[in-house]
Amino acid sequence: MQDWWKKATVYQIYPRSFNDSNGDGVGDLQGIIEKLDYLKGLGIDLIWLSPVYDSPNDDNGYDIRDYYSINPEFGTMEDFDQLLNEVHKRDMKLMMDLVVNHTSDEHQWFKDHEDYYIWREKPNNWGSVFGGSAWEYDNNKGKYYLHLFSKKQPDLNWENPELRQRIYDMMHWWLQKGVDGFRMDVINFISKHPDLPDGPNGDGSAYFMNGPRIHEFLQEMHDEVLSHYDCVTVGEMPGATPEDAKVYTNPNNREVNMIFTFEHMDLDHGPNEKWDYQPLNLVDLKENLEKWQHTLYDIGWNSLYWNNHDQPRVVSRFGDDTNYRYESATMLATCLHFLQGTPYIYQGEEIGMTNVQFPTINEYKDIETLNMYQEKKNKGTAESDILDQIHHVSRDNARTPMQWSGENQAGFTTGVPWIQVNPNHCHINVESDLNDEYSIYKYYKSLIKLRKDINLITMGKFKLIYREHPNLFAYKREGESETLTVYCNFSDQTIEVDEQPNGDILIQNYDNQASNNQIKLRPYETIVYKH
Ligand code: NOJ
Repeated sequence: MQDWWKKATVYQIYPRSFNDSNGDGVGDLQGIIEKLDYLKGLGIDLIWLSPVYDSPNDDNGYDIRDYYSINPEFGTMEDFDQLLNEVHKRDMKLMMDLVVNHTSDEHQWFKDHEDYYIWREKPNNWGSVFGGSAWEYDNNKGKYYLHLFSKKQPDLNWENPELRQRIYDMMHWWLQKGVDGFRMDVINFISKHPDLPDGPNGDGSAYFMNGPRIHEFLQEMHDEVLSHYDCVTVGEMPGATPEDAKVYTNPNNREVNMIFTFEHMDLDHGPNEKWDYQPLNLVDLKENLEKWQHTLYDIGWNSLYWNNHDQPRVVSRFGDDTNYRYESATMLATCLHFLQGTPYIYQGEEIGMTNVQFPTINEYKDIETLNMYQEKKNKGTAESDILDQIHHVSRDNARTPMQWSGENQAGFTTGVPWIQVNPNHCHINVESDLNDEYSIYKYYKSLIKLRKDINLITMGKFKLIYREHPNLFAYKREGESETLTVYCNFSDQTIEVDEQPNGDILIQNYDNQASNNQIKLRPYETIVYKH
């Protein structure tokens, strides 16, 4: 039998920004329950819930203080049990975020179990992902601990078998409750090179990404925990290549079902840092996705995504959120959802939510953004240049509240939201998408349904066509007797292809074909044929 998660469509909820039921300005579990019918209506099979555990929120819940309790801002464990039950009642599944590369420095383990963390008398030269050194001095202990993220996120010492057992116990506890799987935060960082050597220019990634014992740890986790349940796993793995992914996702290796690659998300980053954004070269994107499609075909499995809580909004990034928002959002969705893999939709993507341009730094909340702002200020970078980078790249672009309606605070809260709503909620919102005859929401719904109806979308072999074309992303999905051909115009210019339309139209984002004799694609047009 085919694994159920191969045909599933996943929806990611960032709880803080999804729906606030009690007016405190922070999204919560009851707020999610209120919207489950909405997700079911879209056709979602699996929900990935970003962390809801108890946390001091230095990194919005990715700094966990207690794995066994719910952050009171989000509700109680009873609310969680109710949520899980309501999800299952609707025949959907729920995947938890598993953050076990690090905990909060307020976790009891950090107080009681020094050997669960990584300590050194002298720091090496590694930098933290959020800026500054990856080491923090502890006055009481007289030594330094490693934190690849903020100093309130000390890295766990996976070399310690007792620590590993505590993590496995915790995973059992959640799976026994009935959760359906885990999205594993930076899981390919858990095995550090035992010597912790200096890295070139302070970049230690060669010594902690895909480290020496990573496969052993994942296999142990699989055998001790995952193999006992029908659950799904996706490993977030920055720096993993398709060759790495082939090992991680080959079922014979008993590690994870799929991973999140970062390669396609890094293509518009400058050579030095992600803030140095560059225009996307479409040929690079095509060739990169092709490599992933080919390398994992028949061996492992891909996850497919354009958005999550760490990425700017794709319609603003690779589309045109001003003149062609509907066309580019639906084109991007088509391009992604017809690839082989499991597609992930991030909240608001299905209505084409855009980046936000807050006028001052005071409106921003993300620790990474705030640290970067301070570092650049200290170096003397002009305020307007820093804000420009933040407007394009900041994680807060994804974290503004979900736009449910055109009303006050976008219908997200009756109180004051923890981060301001995007002013464009007046015209970009769920309510209007549900009412409009054509909307991005309705298009996503059709795409999701097609994936359920047509097995070729899940199983067909990928073949890139028009490789060198700078604006056209076109490919085939080949089966034994049928083929799908997907055309996506990534530009606001009309593209004429020397080819006749062939087959039945499965889906398109204009209401007719520009020409019956030739493939002609208007700005951001997409069309899929089956023949
Ligand atoms: C990846 C998560 O997606 C991100 O939001 C978080 O800041 C880091 N891991 C650290 O947990």
